[in-house]
Amino acid sequence: MQEYLKAVKVTDNTYWVGAIDWNIRNFHGYATERGTTYNAFLVMDEKITLIDTVKAPFYDQMMARISSVVDPSKIDYIVSNHAEMDHSGALPQAVRDICPEKLFASPMGEKNLNAQLEVGIEITAVKTGDSISIGKNSLSFIQTAMLHWPDSMMTYLSGDNILFTQDAFGMHLSGTRLYYDEYDQSVLDWESEKYFANIIMPYSGKVLQLLKSLPEMKLDVRMFCPDHGPLMRRPEDMAKVLGQYAKWARQYPVKRVTVIYDTMWHASERMASSICDGARSVGVDAEEICMRFHDRSYVATMVSRSGAIAVGSPTLNNNLMPTMADVMTYLRGLKPQHKIGFSFGSFGWSGESVSQLNEYLAAMKVEMINEGLLFKYSPTAEELKQCFDAGVELANKLIAKIENQEECK
Ligand code: FEO
Repeated sequence: MQEYLKAVKVTDNTYWVGAIDWNIRNFHGYATERGTTYNAFLVMDEKITLIDTVKAPFYDQMMARISSVVDPSKIDYIVSNHAEMDHSGALPQAVRDICPEKLFASPMGEKNLNAQLEVGIEITAVKTGDSISIGKNSLSFIQTAMLHWPDSMMTYLSGDNILFTQDAFGMHLSGTRLYYDEYDQSVLDWESEKYFANIIMPYSGKVLQLLKSLPEMKLDVRMFCPDHGPLMRRPEDMAKVLGQYAKWARQYPVKRVTVIYDTMWHASERMASSICDGARSVGVDAEEICMRFHDRSYVATMVSRSGAIAVGSPTLNNNLMPTMADVMTYLRGLKPQHKIGFSFGSFGWSGESVSQLNEYLAAMKVEMINEGLLFKYSPTAEELKQCFDAGVELANKLIAKIENQEECK
């Protein structure tokens, strides 16, 4: 081990011993322009406990930080809250070097860790309601299946009153500051919503269940420690994040239109501009996103922030533009809810793009306001007016939907 790195004290007994990944720019398809952190925590008690590990290439960083507090071979327990490799990649080597007495994971964590890795130790499965004493304090486990893997769980540390929330309430944001209250709030709001939209959104129902059940557990939580990004130590920050998750998970319609498209010779682009102008003309914010210049994770975030979408593509070899097939496949998997929208596009001779976009919108349960706008070669002034009018109609229907929603609340 060559690194000389220090653990960061979180409380008298708990240290951050994770890693900062300044340079990652693509996290399995998610654009991480601000990098990320892999948070791991060392709890010093009679049973010294490591909560989560890091991505495999950062193993030495984690061990160096642990070594700044205690000889790693003194660690008694390891808790794996989540089997995904950014948290478990370093686990096999950690088990080999530390030789812990026990490794804890959820029942699905036991299966998933064994299926992915040669863990090298029998895993002790723990369920919601189980607690283990580590000396003065105890660890309690909360299964959070499908937030966002079947194995996911959270761990609560009594005494320090820390909830280790694993991926939930986290974000991809690198930095040397440890706490949420030390960062620019607009950066936190963007990165947190981006993370929700790209990772958590398909499991919004599970989020709402968790938000309902957490208070019922009557835990005295004074800190959220997620596995990515800053830790929340102020009550107002924890309350803010819980409120944001409730809002994002409910997916109530938001007064914004996002127009997502690609173009070959600017026909679909001109249609997109007219649609946007139509929406704006009735007072609804609208944004054009050309997929030649933007990544899919930006789009997912803007879709989360929009109650209406319009999606456009020319026909290329009887198909969508590949960029549009990419983003529509991605969005379909994220299962955004309660959207209204329509498709549009240009064509030269066969014109399949709009019907293919409609298939995606139908799979996403988007309420389509028309059958799609499909125009041959370059749209005429009259055809562009139809696009503008469709933008007006989309925005007005969104306004009506939001008003109706407010009345129902
Ligand atoms: Fe950060 Fe689902 O792993």
